[in-house]
Amino acid sequence: MLPPPHDNNAPIRLTDNDAALAKLSAVRQKYLTDQFIQHFVPRSNNQLLIVSLGAGSDTRFWKLATSSQKDCLSAYVEIDFPEITMKKAMSIKKNKTLNDVVGDVQLGRGGSALSSPLYHLLPADLRLDPSVALGSLISTENGPSLLDPSLPTLLIFECVLVYMSPQESNRLLEWFQAYFSSQNGAALGAIVYEMFGLGDSFGRVMVSNLKTRQVSLPGAEPYPTLESLPSRFLNLKFTAALALTLKDIRRNYIDAEELARISKLEMLDEVEELELVLEHYAITWSLSLSGTGLKAPWGDWGLKRKQQQQYD
Ligand SMILES: C[S@@+](CC[C@H](N)C(=O)[O-])C[C@H]1O[C@@H](n2cnc3c(N)ncnc32)[C@H](O)[C@@H]1O
Repeated sequence: MLPPPHDNNAPIRLTDNDAALAKLSAVRQKYLTDQFIQHFVPRSNNQLLIVSLGAGSDTRFWKLATSSQKDCLSAYVEIDFPEITMKKAMSIKKNKTLNDVVGDVQLGRGGSALSSPLYHLLPADLRLDPSVALGSLISTENGPSLLDPSLPTLLIFECVLVYMSPQESNRLLEWFQAYFSSQNGAALGAIVYEMFGLGDSFGRVMVSNLKTRQVSLPGAEPYPTLESLPSRFLNLKFTAALALTLKDIRRNYIDAEELARISKLEMLDEVEELELVLEHYAITWSLSLSGTGLKAPWGDWGLKRKQQQQYD
């Protein structure tokens, strides 16, 4: 097939998409009234693509797909080592409760991959070159690619980057970021939940306990403090990033009734010990708008603190 002729007008035509997106966002913020603009912006109905990397046996897809938020989901992709995805694919295929939510499934790659209308499971070693390991995410061989740069996309890394070297995890994030920015794509978000600050005595015990199970945590080394966590994203030119420790989240962002309920379940009397653990875990979240051309003040975004919740 011949390559498409060079199209000088394409960048000019793209400005219409930018203008329509800007108008839609003004309508959503209630600066303007226009009930029709949403129908001219592709996939504007707030749908989201979620990619969970190192998903393991996580069940978030099933919870989301059976919740009131299910219509927000355009697709949900999970990636893990083939040994893990093969086991998960088998469970999904055999178990009616899981299967009913997923719908029509097709197995592939010797049983280690599974696809359905909404849910996709892919085998990959995330330490390898992403253009090879994650090639199937952007392959158009059997129809449209799974990653769609026109869709806002959220990457979830729950206790996985910590097992990879900083070079490997940076390469992975860079690959996603470059894909979205080079295609004038939609917003790309990422959430990382994992341990950090392992240079103190608590951290050293954790590291040596894991060593006895032949598990190392090279990914924690560049992140000795909470302040260092957003740099993972900001150094890769993400637009904004923030991090909170679980200790802070527990203290300042969880309702008092919920805390009381959990405390009873755990019969918790040593809060200091719990807090020592929780201050070594953090949630970092980030947003890249580089493909959208949008700029926004991001100083005040994130979770709502308890005091604010009471007055809302
Ligand atoms: C601690 S588990 C977390 C599972 C899941 N994210 C959760 O929070 O329930 C870590 C997962 O990351 C996966 N993982 C770690 N390194 C990986 C790599 N290089 N490639 C693919 N998966 C990886 C492991 O196989 C495992 O399923």
